[in-house]
Formats: sequence, structure tokens, C-alpha cells
Amino acid sequence: MDDGYPTPTSISQKATVALLVQPPISPSSASKIPQGILDNNLHLGYLGRHLLQGLPARYTSQDASQSWLLFWSLQSLSLLKVELDEGNKKRASDTILAMQNPAGAFGGGPGQAPHLLPTYAAICTMGIVGSPSTWSQINRPSLYQFFMSLKEPDGSFRVSQRGEVDVRGVYCLLAVAKLLGMMTRELVLGTREWVRSCQTYEGGFASATIGVGEQSAPLGEAHGGYTFCALAAWVLLESEFPSDKGSKSINLKSLRRWLVNMQGDEDELYGFRGRTNKLVDGCYSWWVGGCFKLLAELEERRGMSGKDAEEPIWNPEGLKQYILYAAQHPAGGLRDKPPKSPDMYHTLYCLAGLSVAQYAATASTTTSTSTTSSTSTSPTFRTIAQSAPSQTSNAPPSLNATDPLFNLTQTHAEAMMAYFKSGEVEAFQ
Ligand code: FPP
Ligand code: ZN
Repeated sequence: MDDGYPTPTSISQKATVALLVQPPISPSSASKIPQGILDNNLHLGYLGRHLLQGLPARYTSQDASQSWLLFWSLQSLSLLKVELDEGNKKRASDTILAMQNPAGAFGGGPGQAPHLLPTYAAICTMGIVGSPSTWSQINRPSLYQFFMSLKEPDGSFRVSQRGEVDVRGVYCLLAVAKLLGMMTRELVLGTREWVRSCQTYEGGFASATIGVGEQSAPLGEAHGGYTFCALAAWVLLESEFPSDKGSKSINLKSLRRWLVNMQGDEDELYGFRGRTNKLVDGCYSWWVGGCFKLLAELEERRGMSGKDAEEPIWNPEGLKQYILYAAQHPAGGLRDKPPKSPDMYHTLYCLAGLSVAQYAATASTTTSTSTTSSTSTSPTFRTIAQSAPSQTSNAPPSLNATDPLFNLTQTHAEAMMAYFKSGEVEAFQ
């Protein structure tokens, strides 16, 4: 609705809704192009082409996102229940380790400056393809020093030396600290309070905060990307240091209301938007859809009603419609919305969101990644066995579940955390 004053956003919104409710996208259309099921082999083909033959030239603008590109492709494969063979795993971990800086952190590519965001993507990729012999090459003492050098007096962190402060960096740092067993009280002193101060009047979270203590205010508007980062950061902190429970909490009631309101209506095929009055986009299937399990966990800890496990407070069946009919590209890969092209980023976050929807009514996200003999379409890949969950619909999940804190399969995350907790590795206090 534009109230008679069209804007670029309201014009795009009208065009998008018109596309979503008409053939060939609309689920009610008889067209055979969009499919109501996930075409796993089609997307494996898309990912395999990109990984093995190289990325199309347009990706040169993402030269500083090389660890991200690997994470997006390899985690997409994990969700599709596929694992690289040993040779390609080694290739991937060598590629990531070449991005490790003497500072211990990772740049977006070899020789690039260390930065929290590519560090998260690098460590998660190592979680997918690594093993103790490659994990032992991660320089944790230097990485910890690097983290401490980015710390601000208010508990936040800069994303890089002289870089900006924002909640994406804080999440990336905490996720890495958790995976590598480096979550110390010294590291996170003041961080909880800083994250809390990013929650806006709407209930979602903004990128950062301005001012200090009681005088601080969220910087900008609530956004799905920042909200996921803030909520996951909050759960990581609260789980690690439960004795801090007495301190002020984030507002779960307003967060719940905001998250639910980010889901579009029938004419938007129930996709998620990232902020109020903006358009639905496939990637928010994860950034917003991925928040519900985290919210449910916090609500359960506080004895609040409405646990997501029994009865979702959002519409997972609806979200499946958006991803399968609108985001799934008929030629492989997934996308923001029609008529856009697919890309690696949207392929991962649409698949992760679809996975969340497929497992929405199950009590646990546990997966098994014990490998089976090769049954996939490409000799490069092996399938990953999946434990059977209960279902919201009759169709069995075509995807693995993903850990809501890291966006890794639980076995990948747990294996890495177990290694860094084991006696083989020196402990952080
Ligand atoms: C707006 O884009 C996008 C943002 C303001 C930031 C998005 C942040 C994330 C997706 C989180 C990233 C997380 C990590 C861990 C790095 P836009 O104006 O093009 O889109 P919109 O209209 O949908 O808001
Ligand atoms: Zn997007």
C-alpha cells in the first residue's frame, strides 16, 4: 500500500506481488517450471559446477569474500546431505588456511587484512571439511589476541583494526570463540549488555548502538540480518555464562511479535522480509526463520508459553511455498525473488531456511553425519545419512537440519567443539 504516494519500494512491491501470484510462479498455476518439491539434484549440479569449474566472472567483485563463497557452497552441500571426497576436502581446507593471517584471523582471501566476518566463514568451512590435523593449524592464541585487540570499552568489537562496530562482527566473533573453545569471561565482558542495547522499539535488532549505558540507543532500524546475529550472540552468551541470568534480558515478547510480523502474506507466498515495509527475499528465510528455534529456546528457559517445538508460532508450510515456488530457480540454485538470478549466498540461506521449515515442529535438530557409501549423482560427493525426525507434513525432509547457532550441521559443529575441548588442545581460561 502506498497511500497514493508511490515510492521505488512500493512500485517494486506491486511488481513482485504480481509476479508471485501469476503463472509460472504461483503454486496454483499449472505450469511445470516451478516445482513444489526441492530438486536436490538440480541444485547439486549448480553447486558442483561452481565449485569444480570455478565461479562465473561476475563473482570477481566478491574477491574479499572468498571464505564466504566456500562456506556458502559447502554448507549448501551439507544441507543437501552431501559431503566432499577426501581430496576436495583437503583442497578446501588448504584454500582456507591460505587466508589465515599471522594475526591468527582470516582475511577474505590470501594476503587480505584479517576481519571478523571472513573469519567466521573460514572457521565454519573448516568445521565442514576439516579434521584434527587441519584444525591444529588454526592459530588460536594469535586469534584470541586479535579478538581482544578489537574490543571496545562498551563490550562491543570492531570488525577489523580501525573498522566499524556492528552486531554481525560480534556474532561472528562469539560463534568462532564457541567453536574453538575460546569463550572466556575476559573476552565477553560487557558484550551482553551491548547486544541488548541494539534491540529497537519494534522488537528486532539494529546494527549497533549509539551512546553508552543508560544513554545508549539502537543505531538505525530493526533488520532480520542483525536480529539473527544479535539473538544468536545472546543465546551463545547466556548458554556459556548462565550465572549472569540475573542481569537484564532482551525483550522476548516484542522480539516474538516482530519476527512473526516479518512473514509475508499469501500474495507474497509467505516469504520473509528483512524489515518493516520492505520486500520479501529468500535469504530472510534463514535470517528471520532461523530465529524461531533460538527464541523458543530462550522462552523455554524462562518458562514462557508458546514453545515452537509443539506448535510453531509462524507458518513453516507457507515459507516452504516461497522457497520452492519463488526462490528455487528452474535452472538450479536459489534466489532472492523472481525474476532475479540465483547466487551462492541466496542458495545457502534459502536452503537453510527451508531446512528450518522442514524441521519446524520437531523437538530436536539432531542430525547424524555418519557417511554412507556413495549414492549421489556425482562421484565427487558422498551422501550424509540423516536421522528421521517427526514431520509437519507428510513429505520427509529432503535436507539435513542445521544448528541454529552456527548454521552448520550439528555433527560438524559438535566434532569441532569436542576437538578444541579435548586434551589434545591447550585450554583457554
Ligand atoms: C539491507 O539490505 C541489509 C542490511 C542492512 C544488512 C543485512 C545483514 C545480514 C544479512 C546479516 C549478515 C550476517 C553475517 C553473519 C555476516 P537491503 O536494503 O538491500 O535489503 P532489504 O530491503 O531487504 O532490507
Ligand atoms: Zn537476500
